[in-house]
Amino acid sequence: MMNGNIFIKNASQLITVSGFLPKRGQEMRHIGVIENGAVIVENGIITGVGKTSDLIGNAFSDQFEIVDAANKIVLPGFIDSHTHFVFGGYRPDEFLLRTQGASYMEIMKKGGGIKNTVMATRQASREELAETALMRLNAMLSFGVTAIEGKSGYGLDKETEIKQLEVMKSVNESHPIDISATFLGAHAVPSPYQSKEDAYLDFLLNEVMPDVHAKGLAEFCDIFCEKDVFSIRQSERFLRKAKEMGFKLKIHADEIASQGGAELAASLEAISADHLLSSSDKGISDLSQKGVVATLLPGTAFCLKERYARARLMIDNDCIVALATDLNPGSCYTHSIPLMMSLAVIYMGMTVEEAITAFTLNGAAAINKNHMTGSIDVGKTGDLVVIDYPTYQFIPYHTGINRVLLTIKRGNIVCRNPRETCYPS
Ligand code: NIG
Ligand code: FE
Repeated sequence: MMNGNIFIKNASQLITVSGFLPKRGQEMRHIGVIENGAVIVENGIITGVGKTSDLIGNAFSDQFEIVDAANKIVLPGFIDSHTHFVFGGYRPDEFLLRTQGASYMEIMKKGGGIKNTVMATRQASREELAETALMRLNAMLSFGVTAIEGKSGYGLDKETEIKQLEVMKSVNESHPIDISATFLGAHAVPSPYQSKEDAYLDFLLNEVMPDVHAKGLAEFCDIFCEKDVFSIRQSERFLRKAKEMGFKLKIHADEIASQGGAELAASLEAISADHLLSSSDKGISDLSQKGVVATLLPGTAFCLKERYARARLMIDNDCIVALATDLNPGSCYTHSIPLMMSLAVIYMGMTVEEAITAFTLNGAAAINKNHMTGSIDVGKTGDLVVIDYPTYQFIPYHTGINRVLLTIKRGNIVCRNPRETCYPS
């Protein structure tokens, strides 16, 4: 039945994360748990949320799919608000070099890193890129992800940047996960522009971005603001112009070295500042003041053996914190939501409740979709996940394991994972 009508009942915990605005600071702990909960979705939109005993009285026709979620938890679909999922090739050799002590930036400076993926992505056909992108989207869907953000940035020339964005557009049309696109042409400096960063940024601004914008291929614009990539001055000039062109802003900020990326994101009123592993106290309080979403990517710190972002300090400073995977072929290849939650809880001092808010409502805010998804509220889209755990604390406690049973998009079951019972009912 694919008519967008579903009634889920008897959930041991229905985690609503209720809200239309992002949650900051203390609010992030309020995830709205309803025991023995139920949800009604009609024509793809949530029309009822509450206790099963209160909703069960509604007469349901055979037009509704009925899901009995006894001894299971139900949450809003997860939002992965920072991924680089369209690319050619893989880089396992670099992963091994890093395990032997080479750093991410050393590999990049020697001509490896992002540039290796750029070569493979330029060579790949649209069909090849779409095929691997769809495979990754299916993997995300099986982890309960219902919306993501995806970036270009493996072309560094007009043709390939646009090819990546067009592939994202086409897979968005054919796959249940909703994709928000980001233009990340400023991901690295391609060889013809070596040491001419400003000239490369002008090329993007003058030759590439007007087309990207006119064709509606990207809502957001991002830059890798990092020591030895793009400086604060270059990033600021570039992002100001991008904003004037109508892009909403995101920044890869303070990922490795601290340059003041968080401060820049706040002064430009970016929608999100991402990574923030080495952000200063001032940068953190600026993000809080301007309501910029701090998107934290613990998988990257884990894989690069870098320090973790200071999530506890950010939340205690009233920031809006989101979590995401950063899925990419270099620094961090994972789509595991539960692994990110475990890292957040174990290494970044976040509570389980904060981690859930960060992967739902606040993730939705990082892609400007908090008014339509990211929580279980009447009026929002019926994007839900049913997980085979009796309580939500199991998500980070059972580390990196996927216990998602059903992923529901606009009221339709779009992924069913096989169930192996191992929890007493
Ligand atoms: O978010 N740091 C820049 N971009 C990615 C990595 C891209 C790559 O190595 O392919 C990141 O970590
Ligand atoms: Fe990234």
